[in-house]
This record gives sequence, structure tokens and C-alpha cells, in this order.
Amino acid sequence: MTMGGSTHFSVFLLVAIILLCSSSKTVNATCYASEKQALMDFKKDLKDPSGRLSSWIHDIDCCKWEGVVCSNRSGRVIQLHLQCPVGEIDDFGNEEISPLSGKISHSLQNLTHLRYLDLSLNNFSGIPIPSFFGSLRSLRYLNLSGAGFQGMVPYQLGNLSSLRTLSISAWQPPTLRVDNLQWLAGLSNLEHLDMSRVNLSLASNWQEVINTIPSLVEIHFPSCQLDLISHHLGRNTFTSLQHLDLSFNHLNGSLPDELIHLNNLISLNLGWNHFEGSLDGIWNWSSLTSLDLSYNNFTTFLPSQLSTLTALISLDLATNHFRGSIPSSIANISKLQHLDLYDNNLSSSLPIPSNLGKLSSLEHWDVSNNKLTGTLPESFWQLSKLEDLRIHNNSMEGIVSESHLDNLSVLWYFDASGNSLTLKVSASWTPRAQFEVLRLGSWKLGPQFPTWIRSQKILSDLNLSFTGISDTIPPWIFNSSLGYIDFSHNQLHGKSSNISENLISNYLFSGGISHALYEVKNENQVLWYLDLGENSLSGEIPDCWMNYPHLERIDLNSNNFTGSIPRSLFLLEDLDYLGLGNNSLTGPIPFDFVKHE
Ligand SMILES: *[C@@H]1O[C@H](CO)[C@@H](O)[C@H](O)[C@H]1NC(C)=O
Ligand SMILES: *[C@@H]1O[C@H](CO)[C@@H](O)[C@H](O)[C@H]1NC(C)=O
Ligand SMILES: *[C@@H]1O[C@H](CO)[C@@H](O)[C@H](O)[C@H]1NC(C)=O
Ligand SMILES: *[C@@H]1O[C@H](CO)[C@@H](O)[C@H](O)[C@H]1NC(C)=O
Ligand SMILES: *[C@@H]1O[C@H](CO)[C@@H](O)[C@H](O)[C@H]1NC(C)=O
Ligand SMILES: *[C@@H]1O[C@H](CO)[C@@H](O)[C@H](O)[C@H]1NC(C)=O
Ligand SMILES: *[C@@H]1O[C@H](CO)[C@@H](O)[C@H](O)[C@H]1NC(C)=O
Ligand SMILES: *[C@@H]1O[C@H](CO)[C@@H](O)[C@H](O)[C@H]1NC(C)=O
Ligand SMILES: *[C@@H]1O[C@H](CO)[C@@H](O)[C@H](O)[C@H]1NC(C)=O
Ligand SMILES: *[C@@H]1O[C@H](CO)[C@@H](O)[C@H](O)[C@H]1NC(C)=O
Ligand SMILES: *[C@@H]1O[C@H](CO)[C@@H](O)[C@H](O)[C@H]1NC(C)=O
Ligand SMILES: *[C@@H]1O[C@H](CO)[C@@H](O)[C@H](O)[C@H]1NC(C)=O
Repeated sequence: MTMGGSTHFSVFLLVAIILLCSSSKTVNATCYASEKQALMDFKKDLKDPSGRLSSWIHDIDCCKWEGVVCSNRSGRVIQLHLQCPVGEIDDFGNEEISPLSGKISHSLQNLTHLRYLDLSLNNFSGIPIPSFFGSLRSLRYLNLSGAGFQGMVPYQLGNLSSLRTLSISAWQPPTLRVDNLQWLAGLSNLEHLDMSRVNLSLASNWQEVINTIPSLVEIHFPSCQLDLISHHLGRNTFTSLQHLDLSFNHLNGSLPDELIHLNNLISLNLGWNHFEGSLDGIWNWSSLTSLDLSYNNFTTFLPSQLSTLTALISLDLATNHFRGSIPSSIANISKLQHLDLYDNNLSSSLPIPSNLGKLSSLEHWDVSNNKLTGTLPESFWQLSKLEDLRIHNNSMEGIVSESHLDNLSVLWYFDASGNSLTLKVSASWTPRAQFEVLRLGSWKLGPQFPTWIRSQKILSDLNLSFTGISDTIPPWIFNSSLGYIDFSHNQLHGKSSNISENLISNYLFSGGISHALYEVKNENQVLWYLDLGENSLSGEIPDCWMNYPHLERIDLNSNNFTGSIPRSLFLLEDLDYLGLGNNSLTGPIPFDFVKHE
């Protein structure tokens, strides 16, 4: 173009260019023919049963195709978002969107400006990760997670020196492996690395390699068949690391002292390994919010230095052999919301710390299956944010009053079975909490059936076994939201006509039900577990079981039932266990039921 025209023309041209530029910002650039062709070729080799690439047609600018992003400045294709959406509805109204599968065309190599490639959650089972991905030199983000690729991860990926994110987590059982991780050292700008479930068992140098990438912020190596951890992890140079996940491996021995140098850690997951020994040397992590050492082989005392991890929000030490008392210093971790100590060997050589009430953020505490004795301190009942409390199978004692429980007004999961606690509440008490799970087995509750349970509108799981109740079963129990009932080992009594009236009252057994009705299942009734064993129930077993079609277990052992076995019991198709022993029942067991078994 010549610029020999008037100044007016130049100004006009300038304005036109400005207009053009600003409009191109909203309209987006048009795509290059060669890149459109490369994408068409890529599409041709894919299977796309849900038509996810139906907008990929020649007459449309490829920058407007679904999942394709072009640079506004250059018009080059710079991003491909082709992850398979989960739980969405496709254009044809199908509930499941089918993953892309098939082959991956070499034509992708022509997208030389591609910075972002996400093929996650598709199904490329049977093919390896294409080694030519290593030539997509502009890539900063590569996500092939859960896409079913198989075989060796190509070392050519080591040429992607601009890569910030590499996510190639494999399917279970693992389909991907490496024989060496040396190539990873080429990814000198890598920040986020996820190789979950990739078999790294031959990559014995994995720690040396990741040590050469100081930019790393996140490493996710769960279920990678790792069996060696050494002093290479956490050299002084390696301080950018914030998230380290080595869970579900075969790492053994004591925790490497060098971990201490990872002093910017935010989360550390070493759960499901074989670590043992002490926890010395893991302190000084002032940013750590989540620590998971569960399912290992630690036998040490819980160290009081835990309290130096002041930023912790979640601490999981479950399923080890930690012993000794709960240190009172734990109450100094004031942001703690989630504390798992279950399945250990904790005892109460010192009482349960009286300052536990300082953990005012605590929402979840599981200390079940330990050897704790004594009482829960008064301050404990001030943990008003507790939603989920599991202290079952210890030997705690003492009195729990209605004011205690009323402080825990958002508690919905409460399992305290297997302790010798005593509940002292008035007859008119209505709890402030609505429980979904309430297990008070072995508590002292009786002799009256606790009537306050009627106020529980979403209760699905109720254990009142071994609680000294000597009463009749209130009728509303069988017309509630309950799915799991364990009232065994009490002195529940009442003649069956009574129970049947109870079971029935306005709902179940309105007398003279025809056989046709037996087939009508009450799908809304959720009861699946009923244990009334070891009580003093008597009379005939009511014949109304067709109203509980989901029952899997019925235990009526060791009562005083008489009469014959009701037919409706044999209509329960899901039944795995039926206990009628140690009663005084007579009559035949129907042939079809025996056959059914
Ligand atoms: C291109 O411009 C549009 C409109 O301004 C904007 O929404 C989009 O994010 C831009 N794309 C890129 C890759 O910058
Ligand atoms: C890349 O594009 C060129 C032309 O632009 C073409 O000749 C070549 O076949 C393309 N490569 C692939 C693998 O599609
Ligand atoms: C990779 O894709 C998976 C599945 O779509 C996603 O959950 C994950 O967050 C992605 N990884 C990264 C680092 O973006
Ligand atoms: C992936 O595709 C293979 C072969 O077509 C098929 O057998 C497999 O069930 C698919 N897996 C998933 C998770 O879609
Ligand atoms: C990187 O690319 C060069 C040249 O393209 C090639 O020779 C080399 O094998 C590649 N290296 C890796 C680790 O892929
Ligand atoms: C992992 O790879 C090693 C070495 O190739 C092999 O012996 C092992 O069976 C693999 N493990 C799994 C779970 O695939
Ligand atoms: C750790 O496991 C390896 C085998 O995987 C074994 O040779 C070594 O003795 C174990 N170390 C300890 C401290 O148990
Ligand atoms: C735990 O350690 C004990 C010895 O202290 C050992 O006998 C046992 O095999 C270890 N268990 C695991 C799962 O590593
Ligand atoms: C750990 O912290 C203590 C006190 O805060 C300090 O004296 C010590 O040098 C730190 N250790 C390391 C290895 O950073
Ligand atoms: C539990 O601790 C006691 C001592 O308090 C010890 O004798 C016992 O061996 C420990 N049990 C386990 C499984 O570690
Ligand atoms: C807990 O914190 C208090 C002050 O907040 C401090 O005096 C006490 O020494 C700390 N206890 C432990 C065991 O860290
Ligand atoms: C069962 O009934 C018999 C006779 O009716 C009675 O003597 C016995 O005490 C009852 N047993 C129980 C456990 O209620």
C-alpha cells in the first residue's frame, strides 16, 4: 500500500485500524487454514459418539469451534480444552457424555503455538501417550489425566521446557509406567506435577530428579509403587514445594530428616506407607495446613511438638500404633478443624487434656478404637462447631448431660458406642442437634426408652444396644427415617400383638392383608438393618415384612417369640441374614425360601 494520499486518508486509515482492532477483540481472530486443517485431521482420527466436536466443521472459523481457543493477537490456536465433562448432559440429552477415543493424529504437531492441551478423562486405552507431544514446544499445560493412555510415558516429554503443569494420572489398575525419570529434569519450569498411579517402581532416581527442578510447587505421586525414600528429598535448594503427596506407596523406615528443609509445605500426605519410628524432625513447618501420616507403622508417643504446627487445619494420624496420652499441647493448634487419631494405642496415663475446649474450630474428631479411659473434660463440650464426633470403642466414663449435648448443636454424626458413659437428660428434653447417626451402645440410658429420639427427623442410624432399656418399643420407630436399628441386648419386651400393633399402628399391618399386597413394595421405606436380638420380646412375629423390602439383616435371636415363621419374611429378596434362633418358634420353613438360599 502506498501512503501517498492526503493526511485525511491517513487519519481515516488509523481510525479504521483502531476500529478493526477493537472489534477483533470481541469477534476474536480467524484461524489459520493450516491449523484448521490440522484440527480437521485430528478430528478425523477420533471417535466422538456424543458429537462433542460437532461444531468442528469446515465452514466455521476454527477459533469458534468448541474447545478451541485462538490468540486474539496472532489468530493462532493456543488452547485445546477437550477434557471429557463428567456428569453433564450432551446435546442429544444423553446423561453420560461419551469420552473421545481412537487415535491421536500427528497433525497436532502443526499447532506450533499450542500452549494448553487438556485431553483428560477421555478414553485412549490401548494407545501410548504420543511421543510427538514432546515437539509441542510451546506447551505450558498438558493434562492427560484419567485418559487411559497405556504403556511407557515417552521421555520426549522432557523437551517441553516451558511446561508449568504436567498431569498424567493413570487409571486403576495402572496402565502407565516409566523405566526412568531422568527426562523430567528437562522440565525446568515445571510447577505442578501429577503422576498418580503411574508405575514409578523402576525410577529409583526420582528424588534426585525432582530435586533438579526447583520451580516445583506441587508433586502428586500417590500409588506409584515407590519403595525408596532417601536423604535426597528436600535438599536446601528445594524450598518452593508446597504440596507433596506420596501416599499409597511402599515407603518404609523412618521419616527422612531432610523433610525439615521443605519449610514452605502447605500439605504433606505420607499416608498408607510403612513408615515407622519417631516424628522428630518434622517440625518447623509453619505453613503446613494438612498433615496425613495415617496407615503407617508409627509406634512412638504423640509428641508435644505437634503444637508447633500452628497452621494445621487437618491432622490425620489414624491407624498407626501411636501410644501414650493425648498431649495437652495439641490444644494450641487453634485452627484445627479435622483431627483423626482412630485405630491407635492411645491411653490415658494422663487424663484427656482439660484444655481441649481451646480447639474452637474443631469440626471433626475421631479418636475411636483406642484405649482412652476417664472422662471427657468439661471444656470439651464447648466445641460448638463439632459436626462429626467418633469416640467409640474406648473405655470412657462419666455423665453426659443435656447441657453438654446442647452446646454441640450442629453435631449430626455421633458414635460413642462401646464406652461406659451415662446420659442424664430430663424426660421433656429435646436436643438442639438433629442427628443422622447416633450410636450410644453400652451407655447407661434405661430403663425407659429415650423418648427424645422422636424429635430426630433425619435419623438414619441408631444404636441403643447394651443400654439397659427395659421398656416396649415405641411404635413410631418403625415408621421413621431409620435404616439401621440396633436395639440388641436390652430388656425390650411386649407381646407380639403389641409389637405388631406397634409396627403396624396406622401404617403397616391393617389386618387381613391379601397376598397380592405382598408384592407391593414400599420403596420409600429404607430400613435395611434390624437387630432386636437378646431381648424379651414375646408372642408371634408380626407378618408385615413386605413393608420393609430393603431389609438385609434381621436378628431376632434369643427372644421369647412363639408361633410360626411369618410368610412375609420370605419375600425379602435382599435378605442376607435372618436370625430366629433361641426362641420357641414352631412350624415349617417354606420350601421356596430354602431354595432361594
Ligand atoms: C480474546 O478476547 C476475548 C474478548 O475480549 C476474551 O474473552 C478472551 O478471553 C480473549 N482470549 C484470549 C486467549 O486472550
Ligand atoms: C502440517 O502442515 C503442512 C502444511 O502446512 C502439511 O504439509 C503437513 O502435512 C502438516 N503435517 C501434518 C502432520 O499434518
Ligand atoms: C487435570 O484434569 C483432571 C480431570 O479433568 C482435573 O481433575 C485436574 O484438576 C487437572 N489437573 C490440573 C493440574 O489442572
Ligand atoms: C475405554 O474403551 C475401551 C475400548 O473401547 C473399553 O473396553 C473400556 O470399557 C472403556 N473404558 C472406559 C472407562 O470408558
Ligand atoms: C528433544 O528434541 C531433540 C531434537 O528435536 C531430540 O533430538 C531429542 O531426542 C529430544 N529429547 C527428548 C528428551 O525428547
Ligand atoms: C510396576 O512395575 C514393576 C517393574 O516393571 C513390576 O514388577 C510391577 O508388577 C508393576 N506394578 C504394578 C502394580 O503394575
Ligand atoms: C525397606 O524395604 C526394603 C525393601 O523394599 C528393605 O530392603 C529394607 O530393609 C526396608 N527398610 C526398613 C528400615 O525396614
Ligand atoms: C510394623 O513394624 C513391625 C515391627 O515394629 C513389623 O513387624 C511389621 O511388619 C510392620 N508392619 C508394616 C505394615 O510395615
Ligand atoms: C526450626 O525452628 C527453630 C525455632 O523456631 C529454629 O531454632 C531451628 O533452626 C529451625 N530448624 C530448621 C532446620 O529450620
Ligand atoms: C500398646 O501400648 C502398650 C503399652 O501402653 C504396649 O504394651 C502394647 O504392645 C501396645 N500395642 C500395640 C499394638 O502397639
Ligand atoms: C500453648 O500456648 C500457650 C500460649 O498460647 C503457651 O503458653 C504454652 O506454652 C503452649 N503450650 C505448648 C505445649 O506448646
Ligand atoms: C419367656 O417366656 C417364659 C414363659 O412365658 C418366661 O418364663 C420367661 O421368663 C421368658 N423369658 C424371657 C427372656 O423373657
